[in-house]
Amino acid sequence: METDVITIDGPTSSGKNSVGFLLAQELGYQYIDTGSIYRAGCVFIIKNEIPLDGQERIVQVFKDLTVGIKMQNHNIRVIANGEDVTDILHNADVTKIVPEVAAIRKVREATKIIQHNLGKVKNTVMTGRDIGSEIFPDAKYKFFLTASSKVRAKRRFKQLVEKDPSIKYEDVLKGMMDRDKKDSEREASPMRIPKGAFVIDNTNLTVEETVDQMLKYITGSGK
Ligand code: C5P
Repeated sequence: METDVITIDGPTSSGKNSVGFLLAQELGYQYIDTGSIYRAGCVFIIKNEIPLDGQERIVQVFKDLTVGIKMQNHNIRVIANGEDVTDILHNADVTKIVPEVAAIRKVREATKIIQHNLGKVKNTVMTGRDIGSEIFPDAKYKFFLTASSKVRAKRRFKQLVEKDPSIKYEDVLKGMMDRDKKDSEREASPMRIPKGAFVIDNTNLTVEETVDQMLKYITGSGK
């Protein structure tokens, strides 16, 4: 059976994950956040103390990586190499290295296979940076989400300060801008607006309003 894939790309804290999760629920699709695949690989790079200049070993981590998604009490759990890594995926040490690791072409090739396999299982909403442009260029519906950098940094700050009250907004904004720059300027499959994508700026929209726009687009486009 051919599965449907809806892609949502966009920069850090553009709301992709909340929007993708809700859209998937509305449609009865599975939700895959591909950032968590890159992050899961980085968890094992850190665990095995692999240096960032050890490209061959880094690529091997991604070639060996198995990723499964499990729903638990309405929350998504990410199981990587048989371990539930959900709670450590957004640790600062992971966030710090992930753009550099994700820029390695062979890492992206290995990750592409994982993403294709996950998309084959069921109808899927998949979020990331290059899903509509590179991974599923023939997806039925493609979206690109964005919002002003100040609003995105505020969203991110709100999430992070709950874990670490000493965190500063200015540092969050800077870290976010650095990450977006690396993701947009890398040679291997940079973040860009996919051909044929519907662009939504959700600076002044709630998650529900954003999903409403998407559903209207989907039902109205008659594809
Ligand atoms: O979306 P999230 O912030 O979890 O992604 C973490 C990092 O993983 C991004 O900054 C980017 O470097 C990388 N990534 C990517 N391509 C994707 C998803 C994430 O390069 N499709």
